[in-house]
Amino acid sequence: MTARSVTLLAGAVALGAAAWAPAAEPLTLKTLAPPGSRIGVALNQAQSDGKDEAGLALALRQFNSTSPENLLKWERVHPEPDRYDFAPADRYVELGRGHGMFVVGHVLLWHQQTPDWVFAGEGGRKADRETLLARLRSHVATVVGRYKGRIGGWDVVNEALDEDGSLRRTPWLEAIGEDYLAKAFEYAHEADPAAELYYNDYNLWKPAKRDAAIRLVQGLKARGLRVDGIGEQGHWGIDDPPLAAIDEALAAMRAAGLVPLITELDMDVLPRDPDMWGADLAKKATIRAKTNVYPDGLPAAVQEKLARRYADVFALFLEHDVSRVTFWGVTDAGSWLHNFPIPGRVNYPLLWDKDGHEKPAFEAVVEVLRKHLP
Ligand code: XIL
Repeated sequence: MTARSVTLLAGAVALGAAAWAPAAEPLTLKTLAPPGSRIGVALNQAQSDGKDEAGLALALRQFNSTSPENLLKWERVHPEPDRYDFAPADRYVELGRGHGMFVVGHVLLWHQQTPDWVFAGEGGRKADRETLLARLRSHVATVVGRYKGRIGGWDVVNEALDEDGSLRRTPWLEAIGEDYLAKAFEYAHEADPAAELYYNDYNLWKPAKRDAAIRLVQGLKARGLRVDGIGEQGHWGIDDPPLAAIDEALAAMRAAGLVPLITELDMDVLPRDPDMWGADLAKKATIRAKTNVYPDGLPAAVQEKLARRYADVFALFLEHDVSRVTFWGVTDAGSWLHNFPIPGRVNYPLLWDKDGHEKPAFEAVVEVLRKHLP
């Protein structure tokens, strides 16, 4: 028996699970997830390359679905017009398949991490609609086609909406027009008819953005396009969004006949400042000094609060039958939140600490899942 299963057993006994048999089966997130649902994690390249052995082993033990943190983004997989770099993505896909995981592709169309050449036309002008559509189709056909039958689901379009629910003014929208979303879904389906296809965005707990996302997906489906799920990234804070807003968002998606997914879950524990996003460097330094409040470790009280927060959101996921919840990173060591939205802070957003030890938040999620077992 491993030290970890002893901990979990002790927890289960303390919780009063009377008929608890000694750990023949390891108690992990994937074994506790409701049948048919998936519990996933984003792997970084050090993990999918096998260089971060401990992080990878932890991920393989706990999760049955995986997403690539960066290596399938356009700038990585297709950095130049005539050059694709598939080696890291090939390793990622083989790793996931080899361990029986559901392998997600992230992401086909986004306005970030996309090289400038994609949007460039001739003579210093911007690419026109036909050029951009041709590039998109060829990129999608090549990337989705390569992993046909192996990548189970794709984030087709990421972050197409602004906070008020209008379409974000990206180079995609400006060059192609509003049907760029439909085209992206059409091309993805063409390249792998069996793959699940998702629309992915953040802050879908905000009513205006949530309703716009629902309308957007319904519009795509009304055109006969395949859309299997609507992903809320879930980059949340320890206090915000309110549970009621998450509850209402999941309920609204279900009521509209859509399948909600949580695709990039983490909980920022640091204070947020409305000026953080888009601040200049000097301002960022000031905000960093003011908000990097736990440089040497997370106080026990905040650790407990984080655990309760995770328990609360998981209770909602179970209630609304969310079919996949994916964490954006394995342990706190690798979280992108040390550098976003302000670089150089110490954050604690995940279920394992930077040394790979379970946090109270892990136990809390385990407990919620365990209680929900039939
Ligand atoms: C982030 C990665 O985690 C970082 O490593 C990278 O520098 C920037 O992108 N929404 C998304 C993800 O859809 O792709 C982003 O991932 C986080 C926000």
